[in-house]
Amino acid sequence: PGSARRDETGALEIGGVPATRLAASHGTPLYVIDEADARHRAVRTRRAFDAAFTAIGSRATVYYAGKAFLSTEIARWMSADGLNIDVASGGELAVVLAAGVDPARVGLHGNNKSLREIDRAVGVGVGAIVIDSLVEIERIAAAAERHGRTQAVRLRINSGVHAHTHEYLATAREDQKFGIPLAEAPAAVAAIRAHAPHLRFLGLHSHIGSQIFVVDGFLEAARRLLALHATLLDGGEVPELNLGGGFGIAYLEGDDPLPIERIAEGLAEAVASVCGELGIPVPAIAVEPGRTIIGPAGVTLYEVGTTKDVVVGLEGGGTAVRRYVSVDGGMSDNARPALYGADYGVRLAGRVSDADPALVRLAGKHCESGDIVVHADYLPGDVTPGDLVAVPATGAYCFSLASNYNYLARPAVVAVRDGIDRVIVRGETEEDLLRRDVLAGAGTGADA
Ligand code: LLP
Repeated sequence: PGSARRDETGALEIGGVPATRLAASHGTPLYVIDEADARHRAVRTRRAFDAAFTAIGSRATVYYAGKAFLSTEIARWMSADGLNIDVASGGELAVVLAAGVDPARVGLHGNNKSLREIDRAVGVGVGAIVIDSLVEIERIAAAAERHGRTQAVRLRINSGVHAHTHEYLATAREDQKFGIPLAEAPAAVAAIRAHAPHLRFLGLHSHIGSQIFVVDGFLEAARRLLALHATLLDGGEVPELNLGGGFGIAYLEGDDPLPIERIAEGLAEAVASVCGELGIPVPAIAVEPGRTIIGPAGVTLYEVGTTKDVVVGLEGGGTAVRRYVSVDGGMSDNARPALYGADYGVRLAGRVSDADPALVRLAGKHCESGDIVVHADYLPGDVTPGDLVAVPATGAYCFSLASNYNYLARPAVVAVRDGIDRVIVRGETEEDLLRRDVLAGAGTGADA
C-alpha cells in the first residue's frame, strides 16, 4: 500500500511489520492485508457517499462487494465500520452469517441463484435480493410466502452503457448475461408489485463493470435508470436506486484513479440534476464497491526460486535479454494477469540494493507459460534466489479467485496493523489438498 516504509535492515514494512518477519513467521506465498488501510478506505467511502448525498437532501448506503475478498474477519471489519455487505452466492452469504453480520444489512446478487440460496436468504431475512431474471420474481415470492416474510427486492437493469474496461469486466453491454433490458423493466416491476405483501420493490439496480477510471459511464447509467425510475413512481413507492460498484484503483505507479470523494460528488451532482429535470424526489442511493476498498490494502509476498535470462528477438531486429524471475506462487494465487491481462508491479521486499535495475518478468511456478504475475517491471539486477518480493494492490480478486491449480496449497491471509500480524485465514496444508479425495480403503477389493 501507499505507506512503503522500510525498517533499519531495509525490509519493506506493511502495517508496521517487516516483510522478512511476515515471511519467516507465515511462509510464502502470503497474502498480507493492511487492516488500517482497508478499514480507512471503508470508512472514507461511507463518509464520502454520505456527505455527497446528504448535501442533495438524500442519503446513501455503501455495500462492500464481498466477491472482491471475503472472509469472516473482513466481513466483521466492514460491518463494524458501518458498511452493508453484498454477497453473490450462498457460500458468500454463509461467510457473512458466520461473521455475525446482521442479515438485514446484506444484499444477495446472482444471475442464477439456486432455490436453496433464495430460500436461505429469505429465511435468514437478508435486507435485499437483487432480481436478475424474471423467473426469480415467482421464486422469491414463493420463498417469502413460505417463510411468512416480506422480502425487499431490487431489479437489476442492463442499462446498455459501455464501460471503458476489459471486455470480461464490462457487464452492462446489451449482449451479456446480467440484468434485464430497460424496456422490459416496467412489466417486471408491475409483476413484483403484484406479489405484495410477499415482495416489496426497493428500486432499480445497475452495475456497469469493474476497474473503471472515467466517471461518464456511471453518470450515463444513472441518467438512464432515473428516467425509468421516474416512470415507476406512478405505480407506487421507489425508495432507492442502486448504482453498483466498479470504481478503478491504481495497480501501477502511473495509474491515477479519481478519489472516492470526487466519484461520490460527481454521482450526487448528476443524480440531483437529473431528478431536478424529471421533477422527482432524489431517491436514497446505494453503491457496491469492492476493489477500491480492499484492493490497495493487499500485498502478496513471494520468495524468488530461480532466475533465468532469456534472449528475445526484437521487432525491429536485434535481441534483448529478458530476466524471468520465478516465484513460489503464481496464477493460483493471482489469476488476474492470465485472465484479464492485468498489470501489477513488483518490489524487492527483504532488503534494499543499489545494483542497477533490471527489467524483469515475474513468473509463477505453474505449468503454463501464461502463468505470469508481473509482465514487466524493474528489480535490482542482483535479485537472486531466496530474495523476498512484494506485489502490491493484490487485495481484490486474488484471494477470491484463487485455485489449487497444480495442487498448490492456497496461501494464508495475514492482517497487519500497528506492528502486529495476525492470521485471519490459515494457509492450506497437504492434508487440505487431499481432504476431498475419496481414498480407496485397505481391503476394498482392488484385486477382487
Ligand atoms: N456489484 C456487482 C453487481 C458486481 O457484479 C460487482 C463486481 C461489484 C458490485 C463490485 O465491483 P468492484 O467495485 O469490485 O469493481 N474478477 C474481476 C472483477 C469482476 C467484478 C465482478 N463484479 C477482476 O479481477 O478484475
